[in-house]
Amino acid sequence: MTPEQFVAGLPKAELHMHIEGSIEPDLFLRLARRNGVAVRWQTEEELRAAYRFTDLQDFLDLYYDGCRVLVKSQDFHDVTREYLRRAHADYVLHAELFLGPQGHTTRGIPLAAVMEGVLGAMADAHAEDAVTSGLIVLAQRHRSEEEALAMLDALQPWYGQLLGFGLGGAEVGNPPAKFAEFFRRCRELGFKVVAHAGEEGPAAYVRDSVELLEVDRVDHGNACVDDPSLVAELAGRRIPLTMCPLSNLKLQVIPAVDAHPLKRLLDAGLCVTVNSDDPSYFGGYVNDNYVACQQALGLDHEDLARLARNSFEAAFMPEAQRVDAIARIDDWLTRSGARAGERE
Ligand code: HPA
Ligand code: ZN
Repeated sequence: MTPEQFVAGLPKAELHMHIEGSIEPDLFLRLARRNGVAVRWQTEEELRAAYRFTDLQDFLDLYYDGCRVLVKSQDFHDVTREYLRRAHADYVLHAELFLGPQGHTTRGIPLAAVMEGVLGAMADAHAEDAVTSGLIVLAQRHRSEEEALAMLDALQPWYGQLLGFGLGGAEVGNPPAKFAEFFRRCRELGFKVVAHAGEEGPAAYVRDSVELLEVDRVDHGNACVDDPSLVAELAGRRIPLTMCPLSNLKLQVIPAVDAHPLKRLLDAGLCVTVNSDDPSYFGGYVNDNYVACQQALGLDHEDLARLARNSFEAAFMPEAQRVDAIARIDDWLTRSGARAGERE
């Protein structure tokens, strides 16, 4: 069995992906046409050629510009439904999606259009493919905490349909402390909280996300390797990291996948997970990320299964569903022959 086949049959959860970063070039051009939005690119090839980034900000400039093709509720539905269909094909049983409403409401798109489109597609994916999903709303960290709090208030009609809140966008210069009150309010309302940290920012941003914002998971978290006591704390408390190797490669956070800290952190006992971040921009869905790690970091079947188990341990999902999903991983290890000694 090839690594691709093993990964394809491995049940998994995806916990770090941005809906706006999953618009494939063909859908992007269709939406631009449908909405009469002028864009710089005429063909899918031209678009793909533009997906070369020097760093996070360089990517974010294109990413925010690309959001302009999302106008109607149906557009948000289409992009969400396409991602969940693609995730289902990668044997994702459960997905937690990031959405950044400020990137849309500041362009004059009604919040209800965004929310109804996304939530409707999540319900359709559940009905059609039995994929479960949850929504995590991100505040853009280059904006003020007051704007994040205003977004939190505006989302009140949808509180019952949200898993939690997080922090995304330009990291360096926008430290976790800037959003301490926003996170306190989110936790007080009973939401799960996560934050992008240690992607381009220092280990101190990871520590502050954990200790000051009291996050349930850290998104990326790469820089924690620079602080051994922080690594020990993350391991001891099993605070998950949602890592995104191909994203890190494309945004030049790492020079090559073999330099990624994922395997070192996994061996140090951290709850490391593998995710796609912005799959259409970074050239790979979740399975591509697993396979890239397998090849570059020399992961064996047990490592890959541990990453998948971690994804369910880290998921904000009901306990019974978690237990069932993890049992399916063990079943695959046996059926695939990866655990030859346990075959009947
Ligand atoms: N980092 C921060 N913000 C983002 C990213 C990312 O990789 N993708 C989309 N928004
Ligand atoms: Zn991200």
